[in-house]
Amino acid sequence: MLKENRQCAIETISVDLNNQHKGFGKELIEFAKGYAIKNQCKKLIVNSFHKYNLLRFYEGLGFSKKNKEGIYKGHKYYEFYVNL
Ligand SMILES: CC(C)(COP(=O)(O)OP(=O)(O)OC[C@H]1O[C@@H](n2cnc3c(N)ncnc32)[C@H](O)[C@@H]1OP(=O)(O)O)[C@@H](O)C(=O)NCCC(=O)NCCS
Repeated sequence: MLKENRQCAIETISVDLNNQHKGFGKELIEFAKGYAIKNQCKKLIVNSFHKYNLLRFYEGLGFSKKNKEGIYKGHKYYEFYVNL
Protein backbone atom coordinates (compact mmCIF):
# COMPACT_ATOMS: atom_id res chain seq x y z
CA MET A 1 0.00 0.00 0.00
CA LEU A 2 1.32 3.45 -0.92
CA LYS A 3 0.51 6.64 0.94
CA GLU A 4 0.39 10.13 -0.49
CA ASN A 5 -1.67 13.20 0.42
CA ARG A 6 -3.58 11.26 3.06
CA GLN A 7 -4.69 8.89 0.36
CA CYS A 8 -3.79 5.21 0.47
CA ALA A 9 -3.72 2.99 -2.59
CA ILE A 10 -3.92 -0.75 -2.92
CA GLU A 11 -1.36 -1.75 -5.50
CA THR A 12 -2.74 -5.21 -6.15
CA ILE A 13 -4.52 -8.01 -4.33
CA SER A 14 -4.75 -11.63 -5.28
CA VAL A 15 -6.19 -14.77 -3.72
CA ASP A 16 -4.99 -18.20 -4.80
CA LEU A 17 -7.38 -19.75 -7.33
CA ASN A 18 -8.18 -22.71 -5.05
CA ASN A 19 -9.13 -20.37 -2.22
CA GLN A 20 -11.26 -17.80 -4.02
CA HIS A 21 -14.87 -17.12 -2.94
CA LYS A 22 -14.12 -18.05 0.67
CA GLY A 23 -14.03 -14.51 2.03
CA PHE A 24 -10.25 -13.93 1.92
CA GLY A 25 -10.49 -11.11 -0.63
CA LYS A 26 -13.00 -9.31 1.57
CA GLU A 27 -10.70 -9.81 4.57
CA LEU A 28 -7.76 -8.32 2.65
CA ILE A 29 -9.81 -5.25 1.75
CA GLU A 30 -11.04 -4.83 5.33
CA PHE A 31 -7.42 -5.13 6.53
CA ALA A 32 -6.36 -2.45 4.00
CA LYS A 33 -9.15 -0.13 5.19
CA GLY A 34 -8.05 -0.59 8.83
CA TYR A 35 -4.40 0.00 7.92
CA ALA A 36 -5.32 3.14 5.99
CA ILE A 37 -7.39 4.53 8.88
CA LYS A 38 -4.57 3.81 11.36
CA ASN A 39 -2.23 5.73 9.07
CA GLN A 40 -4.50 8.79 8.92
CA CYS A 41 -5.59 8.22 5.33
CA LYS A 42 -8.91 9.78 4.36
CA LYS A 43 -9.39 7.82 1.18
CA LEU A 44 -8.48 4.35 -0.08
CA ILE A 45 -8.19 3.84 -3.81
CA VAL A 46 -7.64 0.87 -6.10
CA ASN A 47 -7.40 0.58 -9.86
CA SER A 48 -8.70 -2.52 -11.57
CA PHE A 49 -8.53 -3.49 -15.23
CA HIS A 50 -11.90 -4.00 -16.92
CA LYS A 51 -10.86 -7.51 -17.89
CA TYR A 52 -10.92 -8.59 -14.20
CA ASN A 53 -14.62 -7.73 -14.07
CA LEU A 54 -14.53 -6.72 -10.39
CA LEU A 55 -17.16 -3.99 -10.34
CA ARG A 56 -19.46 -6.04 -8.10
CA PHE A 57 -16.59 -7.11 -5.82
CA TYR A 58 -15.43 -3.55 -5.08
CA GLU A 59 -18.88 -1.96 -5.00
CA GLY A 60 -20.00 -4.71 -2.63
CA LEU A 61 -17.16 -3.67 -0.32
CA GLY A 62 -18.26 -0.04 -0.22
CA PHE A 63 -16.16 1.39 -3.06
CA SER A 64 -17.49 3.85 -5.64
CA LYS A 65 -16.33 3.97 -9.22
CA LYS A 66 -14.97 7.24 -10.61
CA ASN A 67 -16.75 8.40 -13.77
CA LYS A 68 -13.49 8.73 -15.65
CA GLU A 69 -11.78 5.52 -16.74
CA GLY A 70 -8.04 5.12 -16.98
CA ILE A 71 -5.98 3.45 -19.66
CA TYR A 72 -2.63 1.73 -19.21
CA LYS A 73 -0.73 0.21 -22.15
CA GLY A 74 -3.97 0.01 -24.11
CA HIS A 75 -5.94 -1.65 -21.29
CA LYS A 76 -8.84 0.21 -19.69
CA TYR A 77 -9.20 0.25 -15.94
CA TYR A 78 -11.71 1.47 -13.39
CA GLU A 79 -10.67 3.71 -10.53
CA PHE A 80 -12.44 2.81 -7.31
CA TYR A 81 -12.34 4.76 -4.06
CA VAL A 82 -13.82 4.67 -0.60
CA ASN A 83 -13.82 7.60 1.84
CA LEU A 84 -12.67 6.54 5.30
C1 LIG B 1 -10.71 -10.55 -6.76
C2 LIG B 1 -10.27 -11.49 -5.66
C3 LIG B 1 -9.12 -10.86 -4.88
C4 LIG B 1 -11.48 -11.71 -4.73
O1 LIG B 1 -11.07 -12.53 -3.64
P1 LIG B 1 -12.04 -13.66 -3.02
O2 LIG B 1 -11.38 -14.20 -1.82
O3 LIG B 1 -12.40 -14.62 -4.09
O4 LIG B 1 -13.34 -12.78 -2.65
P2 LIG B 1 -14.34 -13.00 -1.44
O5 LIG B 1 -14.63 -14.46 -1.29
O6 LIG B 1 -13.84 -12.29 -0.23
O7 LIG B 1 -15.64 -12.28 -1.98
C5 LIG B 1 -16.15 -11.09 -1.40
C6 LIG B 1 -17.43 -10.72 -2.16
O8 LIG B 1 -17.11 -10.33 -3.51
C7 LIG B 1 -17.76 -11.19 -4.44
N1 LIG B 1 -16.79 -11.54 -5.49
C8 LIG B 1 -15.66 -12.25 -5.32
N2 LIG B 1 -15.01 -12.37 -6.50
C9 LIG B 1 -15.77 -11.72 -7.40
C10 LIG B 1 -15.64 -11.50 -8.79
N3 LIG B 1 -14.60 -11.96 -9.49
N4 LIG B 1 -16.59 -10.78 -9.39
C11 LIG B 1 -17.64 -10.31 -8.70
N5 LIG B 1 -17.83 -10.49 -7.38
C12 LIG B 1 -16.91 -11.19 -6.76
C13 LIG B 1 -18.17 -12.43 -3.66
O9 LIG B 1 -19.34 -13.00 -4.22
C14 LIG B 1 -18.41 -11.89 -2.27
O10 LIG B 1 -19.71 -11.33 -2.17
P3 LIG B 1 -20.64 -11.74 -0.92
O11 LIG B 1 -19.90 -11.26 0.31
O12 LIG B 1 -21.91 -11.00 -1.22
O13 LIG B 1 -20.76 -13.21 -1.01
C15 LIG B 1 -9.86 -12.86 -6.23
O14 LIG B 1 -10.93 -13.39 -6.97
C16 LIG B 1 -8.60 -12.82 -7.09
O15 LIG B 1 -7.49 -12.90 -6.58
N6 LIG B 1 -8.77 -12.73 -8.43
C17 LIG B 1 -7.66 -12.78 -9.37
C18 LIG B 1 -6.73 -11.60 -9.26
C19 LIG B 1 -7.42 -10.27 -9.38
O16 LIG B 1 -8.34 -10.09 -10.20
N7 LIG B 1 -6.98 -9.32 -8.54
C20 LIG B 1 -7.53 -7.98 -8.49
C21 LIG B 1 -6.66 -7.00 -9.22
S1 LIG B 1 -7.24 -5.34 -8.85
